[in-house]
Amino acid sequence: MKSAPTMQQERSEGTMTTTILVADKFDESGLDSLRSLGHNVISDPTLTPDTLPAAINEHQPTILVVRSTKVKADAIKTSPKLSMIVRAGAGTDNIDVAAASGCGIFVTNCPGRNSIAVAELAWGLILSCDRRIPDQVADLRAGIWNKKEYAKAEGIAGRTLGVVGLGKIGQEIAARGQAFGMRVIAWSRSLDEKTADSFGVDYCESLVNLARMADVVSVNVAANKATTNLIDEHFISCMKDGATLINTSRGSVVDQDALAKAIEERGIRAGLDVFADEPAAADKTFKDSIVKLPGVYGTHHVGASTEQAQQAIAEEAIRVIRTYVDTGAIVNCINLASETGASTLTVRHINRPGILAHVFYLLGQSNINVEEMENIIYSGGDAACARIRLSGTPSPEDIDLILDNEHVLDANLTTSD
Ligand code: 3PG
Repeated sequence: MKSAPTMQQERSEGTMTTTILVADKFDESGLDSLRSLGHNVISDPTLTPDTLPAAINEHQPTILVVRSTKVKADAIKTSPKLSMIVRAGAGTDNIDVAAASGCGIFVTNCPGRNSIAVAELAWGLILSCDRRIPDQVADLRAGIWNKKEYAKAEGIAGRTLGVVGLGKIGQEIAARGQAFGMRVIAWSRSLDEKTADSFGVDYCESLVNLARMADVVSVNVAANKATTNLIDEHFISCMKDGATLINTSRGSVVDQDALAKAIEERGIRAGLDVFADEPAAADKTFKDSIVKLPGVYGTHHVGASTEQAQQAIAEEAIRVIRTYVDTGAIVNCINLASETGASTLTVRHINRPGILAHVFYLLGQSNINVEEMENIIYSGGDAACARIRLSGTPSPEDIDLILDNEHVLDANLTTSD
């Protein structure tokens, strides 16, 4: 069933046209696919957090697609037409999600589609830390032959890989660790022994124990309040001397000053694709002294940047957009309230106009708000059943008034507690 043209769509040659602003580099074939669906696609990878509000004002998009461009509250509040932001990637920390929620804008992402690319880079960093490949390359380019120095490497097989966060990226990194003959241990807030077992990894009951046991730690958690400085001074102090820390998640997850100290004082090595104070994609300069420390191998936040990954991301972003435009359903939405309402009212009723309006009127009289609802129709179309999540709990008198309507067949209340 097609949704009504409520999403600032315009009719053009018999198809519904939605305006989509792509404010980042996006796979070309993905842009072509969106255009071939009849949408008005504006692609401007040069947009910055400062120029984005003006672009939204100019183009009045229904849908905004971004990669790492910061979407701040001023951009979000620019146009009431904007109803969905698609993050063409996994992390949504570049989007002011609270502002979007406040404006009734859906925020969605494309989880899991770039996990393999991130895992591949993480492994490049792990091997770089062990074999110092970048230093070797630099020396060779400078005309230096130093087999004696670079022959000093620990090796990977038989050592312990500690995976912090066993989501899609963590799973891909763990699988590659197993292929390298490592023992893999994992910790995450939601992980249990059974799940860890299903991936063939050992469950680590505490983060600090993981730090103590691992020779290589890989951090793969989303950036949010709960994960800010998750890898803190204490965690780093518990790591073995000379151990390796790989961060391909976000800079905010690691206490970078504590890490720099441990690198200098205890020979900790680090492979970092992300940094505490990271420039925007379009910036040309980078000033973070940590990358100059020996034993640190830094990359330019390119974990997800492979052709394969970007094609997979584009496919998923298009699926999200198509589903929304065609049906109004939101795929991979990250800003829906997880728990709403104090009670659920189930009303079976004759399927005709005005009956639910009557129910809602009575609820409104008792100052009870409708939080969520679905109405399903029985075959034949004569009767329907509405499930309504409510902010409060109707009294027995409210229910009696609802049942007074001759077209209401039944009304049942269940409370959340
Ligand atoms: C992600 O969150 O998906 C990755 O960190 C990739 O980010 P990017 O799309 O900005 O490269």
